[in-house]
Amino acid sequence: MASDSPLYLDNAATSFPKPEGVYAAVDDAMRRSGANPGRGSHALARAADEIVLRARANVARLLSAGKDTDTIFTYSCTDGLNLVLKSLAGRGHRAVIGPFEHNAVYRPLYALQTRGLELAVARATPDGRIDLDDFAARCAQGVDFAVVAHASNVTGARSPVPEIARIVHRCGGILVVDGAQSAGHIPIDLQELGADIFVCPGHKGLLGPMGTGIVIVPRTIPLDPLRAGGTGVHSEDPDMPLEPTCRLEAGTHNLPGIAGLSAGIDWLSEVGVERVAAHERACAARLIEGLATIDGVRVLSDAACGTGIVSFTMDGLTSEEVGNFLDQAYGIYTRSGLHCAPLAHRALGTFPEGTVRASVGWSNSEEDVARLVSAVREIRGNFG
Ligand code: ALA
Repeated sequence: MASDSPLYLDNAATSFPKPEGVYAAVDDAMRRSGANPGRGSHALARAADEIVLRARANVARLLSAGKDTDTIFTYSCTDGLNLVLKSLAGRGHRAVIGPFEHNAVYRPLYALQTRGLELAVARATPDGRIDLDDFAARCAQGVDFAVVAHASNVTGARSPVPEIARIVHRCGGILVVDGAQSAGHIPIDLQELGADIFVCPGHKGLLGPMGTGIVIVPRTIPLDPLRAGGTGVHSEDPDMPLEPTCRLEAGTHNLPGIAGLSAGIDWLSEVGVERVAAHERACAARLIEGLATIDGVRVLSDAACGTGIVSFTMDGLTSEEVGNFLDQAYGIYTRSGLHCAPLAHRALGTFPEGTVRASVGWSNSEEDVARLVSAVREIRGNFG
């Protein structure tokens, strides 16, 4: 049954809608503080700089970043991962990654293999988790750095990061955590987590605009810039400055994006990430429960995954077909296919077809979930 009101269930791709304060902050940054932060000493440039400084502090506070870390703004999570992985690959020769890594991790490392990087991919367990024994065995063969997704963008399954960190550190490696699907969706304390470097987008769980990403890196791991260019300071020196935020953020910042990101974090801090997490978990659990009652539907996520992501397949229909029906006949927006994560789909046995992925966000309700379940049931009835 077609429904008039569109229903967005693709929050793993980007959160939508954003809290009102995010739109207002972007608008305000463009209309009232539209100077270039850190470039010039006039009042408007200083006001713009204040926005960036406040956003940096906001990110660090929300994620409980340690005081000896730097919060670096990038243009996306992918941009941040490229910065980190290319730096680390310049100093080591062997990387171990989890079985569910996104192409934002896999493709840069795959390209680096041609320049001598050794890359090992850990196996998954039959229930769709990282196989820690296999991961540990691969690290024992040597690991300069390891990368794992904090939560899979396909199933939502969370990785046991503290345990993974112990394995990597025991073997003398650096652990990078890809927080694309965790930041803002689950409470994170980076001083407890065990990751050395944490990378995440600003436009997903943190509720900011697209064009924003974050790297949190300790001073003890100096990164090389991905881009060289103007920094607003030490302009006489042809070398990039050593101070990390200058060194790694060449070029004009995405000020409206950073202002919006900061407002997204204000909203999360006010509401509480725990509350958002509990809501998204409850919606996902409802969805899993509902889909599991439909014959011919296979759900790849389980309630223990602990995020708002639910992937499923339907017998007799491709995930593309199901996604198209949901879009065109029901106005329900999900994402079908490989989700830029072919490794994960290979590990889960859903390659090359992929899955239909529904991902709930802060603004979804249990009624939204019920609407998706009933649409899937109807599609099943028509095509089963
Ligand atoms: N990485 C995003 C997703 O999983 C775009 O959809």
